[in-house]
Amino acid sequence: MAESFVLNTGARIPSVGLGTWQIEHGAVSDAIYAAVKAGYRHIDSAVAYRNQKEVGLALQKLFEDGVVKREDLFVTSKLWPGNHAPEDVQEDLCSALEDLRLDYVDLYLIHGPIRIQKGTMFIPENLIPTDIPATWGAMEKLYHAGKARAIGVSNFSCKKLQDLLAVARVPPAVNQVECHPVWQQDKLRKLCQSTGVHLSAYSPLGSPGSPGYSGPNVLSNPVVMSVAERLQKTPAQVALRWGIQMGQSVLPKSADRTRIGENFDIFDWSIPYDLMAKFSAIKQVRLLKVEFVVHPNSGYNTLEDLWDGEVEYEDERTENQDHSDFLRCFS
Ligand SMILES: NC(=O)c1ccc[n+]([C@@H]2O[C@H](COP(=O)([O-])OP(=O)(O)OC[C@H]3O[C@@H](n4cnc5c(N)ncnc54)[C@H](OP(=O)(O)O)[C@@H]3O)[C@@H](O)[C@H]2O)c1
Repeated sequence: MAESFVLNTGARIPSVGLGTWQIEHGAVSDAIYAAVKAGYRHIDSAVAYRNQKEVGLALQKLFEDGVVKREDLFVTSKLWPGNHAPEDVQEDLCSALEDLRLDYVDLYLIHGPIRIQKGTMFIPENLIPTDIPATWGAMEKLYHAGKARAIGVSNFSCKKLQDLLAVARVPPAVNQVECHPVWQQDKLRKLCQSTGVHLSAYSPLGSPGSPGYSGPNVLSNPVVMSVAERLQKTPAQVALRWGIQMGQSVLPKSADRTRIGENFDIFDWSIPYDLMAKFSAIKQVRLLKVEFVVHPNSGYNTLEDLWDGEVEYEDERTENQDHSDFLRCFS
């Protein structure tokens, strides 16, 4: 089964990437080193995760120790929401490359259809409306310069992706979105397949316990657990294997050596057709709704505006939850 998928650039994206959001300072290097030793060739990073310098040190050590060469790895970074102005995009990538100790990234994403004023913290008061066509024009320049071997977006709904495709001269190679058995993104997946955009799944395990996430736990979902039991695999392995069988790359985060290995041990077995069919019975709920972006300054008056209707409330509590922990992760 696919150990990589082909992007519309012709490059291959490895189907399992190590997520690096919320890996504690001091633990990033060990996690990346362990992952690459275990066979991972794809690392997902972002300025917003505030640990990119440590990612860079880990990559340098891997190259110096001769574990892998630069060309063996697929490294992603993402544009900071305060640097959407076209004149700031190149500098944002240059600074990410400096931190990562690389000459180019394999994939550079607009982190979301969310923008804040330059030089400010990621809090609601600093939000401003996006101008995605203008930002994308600057992303295209980085692609043509070879600094980003592929460019793409993240957290884009079907409508926002279609709007971008209508104006892009270089079409996005990837849309990185929340995707797991509890939020399967069927509509977006179909659009991505028909337009040649690769869907990459963040929070493929449902990001258990993470700030800002609310709703059912993916790893204790009865379908996921029963398939795991039938196949003698863990729920995490089933969630990830489901993802790659649906055609998406998956980006599990772990800082634990055993779980890093477990999450990569998904290639020499598969979920049979009859068990794959069971996933369609799972009630669908977006777990990361990012409610704080609904603010007079952002241009998003409702969650419907932000996600273009691709959201479902589980209950009243999710509308009123406290977002301070989530914001602290980025500020
Ligand atoms: N583009 C975006 O806006 C965006 C948003 C969110 C995430 N992402 C990317 O996607 C990556 C993954 O998403 P995520 O970090 O939100 O969540 P996730 O990968 O779905 O879940 C990570 C959590 O699951 C635990 N875990 C890992 N492997 C496990 C296993 N085998 N069994 C049980 N628990 C396990 C981890 O704990 P341990 O570390 O203790 O193992 C951690 O608490 C991020 O790190 C980031 O790179 C992107």
